[in-house]
Amino acid sequence: MTQAETITIDPTNDMVILKNGDAETQLAMDSAEAFSAVSKAWLRCGWDTKYVYSFSWLGRPMIQLPEDMIRLQEVIYQVKPDVIIETGIAHGGSLIFHASLCQAMGKGRVVGVDIEIRPHNREAITSHELHKYITMYEGSSIDPDVVSKVRNEVKDNDRVLIILDSNHTKEHVLGEIEAYAPLVSKNSYVIACDGIMAEVKGAPRTEEDWDWNNPVTAAKEFAANSDDFILEEPVFPFNEGVVSERVTYWPSAYLKKIS
Ligand SMILES: C[S@@+](CC[C@H](N)C(=O)[O-])C[C@H]1O[C@@H](n2cnc3c(N)ncnc32)[C@H](O)[C@@H]1O
Repeated sequence: MTQAETITIDPTNDMVILKNGDAETQLAMDSAEAFSAVSKAWLRCGWDTKYVYSFSWLGRPMIQLPEDMIRLQEVIYQVKPDVIIETGIAHGGSLIFHASLCQAMGKGRVVGVDIEIRPHNREAITSHELHKYITMYEGSSIDPDVVSKVRNEVKDNDRVLIILDSNHTKEHVLGEIEAYAPLVSKNSYVIACDGIMAEVKGAPRTEEDWDWNNPVTAAKEFAANSDDFILEEPVFPFNEGVVSERVTYWPSAYLKKIS
């Protein structure tokens, strides 16, 4: 759905109707296309209502769309990393999420980086039941000193997965990818979160340059110049429905290491 379109949901006739000027498209309610159109409208409404600011994981706020975390769980279980590195801690909910998967899998530890770890967040994370899985560093994720500390957390032959959820400008995300991609194992990923920015441009709390200044353009540029990484959707293990596209804040996010 583009911003010029209006969407009508007609449950009586099992249709979703898109209007763009005089053009009208009717989509059967049971089609992937109808689901996609409704989902795009739902994502935009969710942006305006700050829906993602309403979840927590084992007691800590987690600023994520739940579907993104279910998909991430599917990826983490497939990759079974020894180390999950995440930039952007905020309240710590996503670090606790990763730690809970490490505990459930009997494998893995978590390294988090944030430019500012507020004292109440640090205290809540360090006193959490899962804290033993987590190491945190304060500083910019592209600061060479911070990058070097994070690199020292990784041992030879560790399987490593990287999640980038800090500053979402193109330049910063590209800097993060370049800094951390060398740590990633074959068939694992660098995940550039929150590429939804281009799709919500014009909504409240957005900037004029979000159509290009976002994590998707960084991930695409990196992939275009790399022989080792491709931008590819993970293969998710279960689907008995007709929908195959993720409903996501993380479009074009998964940079897979292929060699
Ligand atoms: C979207 S929040 C992270 C949300 C968290 N991953 C979660 O799922 O709940 C972004 C965080 O990135 C941090 N941040 C901003 N710029 C940064 C930078 N240059 N380096 C590291 N962290 C940064 C902010 O302080 C903020 O806590």
